[in-house]
Amino acid sequence: MTKKRALIISFEGIEGTGKSTQCRRLIRYLKKKGLRVAIMREPGSSHMGEEIRHILLHGKGKLTPFSETMLFLAARGQLCAEKIRPNLEKKDVIILDRYIDATLAYQGYGIGVDRRLIKQLNMSAVGDLVPDVTLLLDVAPKIGLARSGRNDRFEKRTFLFFEKVRRGYLELAKAEPKRIKIIPADTTIETMQERIRGIVEQAYERGRKNR
Ligand code: TYD
Repeated sequence: MTKKRALIISFEGIEGTGKSTQCRRLIRYLKKKGLRVAIMREPGSSHMGEEIRHILLHGKGKLTPFSETMLFLAARGQLCAEKIRPNLEKKDVIILDRYIDATLAYQGYGIGVDRRLIKQLNMSAVGDLVPDVTLLLDVAPKIGLARSGRNDRFEKRTFLFFEKVRRGYLELAKAEPKRIKIIPADTTIETMQERIRGIVEQAYERGRKNR
């Protein structure tokens, strides 16, 4: 008999899409249904991952695109080993606030790091821990950036950068329509949440039948 494995869901999108709100609401909803849910954010969530996150977001000095990419991948490898894998059979749903696609979108499409290299590194870091569903919250940077009020290394990037990241995400979704679902984020929180719940419930049921 195959063992029960948690459904892995990742949330993606540029800043200001309302990702955190949607994550929180989905978790509350799933928990109310009696499901065991874990949430992890990237970069971070493991001890080493949080340290790496600090360097990435607030470190002094300039990181080369290569170093930046490697740090995200290092944090991801730790997250998989320390958090995702040990929870695979303990939880019903694992929610990841950003994951493999973020590096392709930000460092690949955004900065221009070789995407084949990122794909290979992603595969080495996560192995079979690929999301069952990825929810891509999509909004024009003009709207998204106006909403988000952060001030760190990543928020300081240009408007053009976020245009590239967004286009990258949309291209990834086009290449993998079964896994990556686009959720328009220029609508209400409730409408977005309804779509998200529909997609997650379908995937959960599908997963249950296949287990
Ligand atoms: P975070 O505070 O988690 O932002 P958000 O709430 O928007 O997810 O900061 C993470 C930043 O790191 C965000 O700007 C996206 C960026 N990032 C990458 O550039 N590459 C990656 O692989 C990941 C996971 C995040």
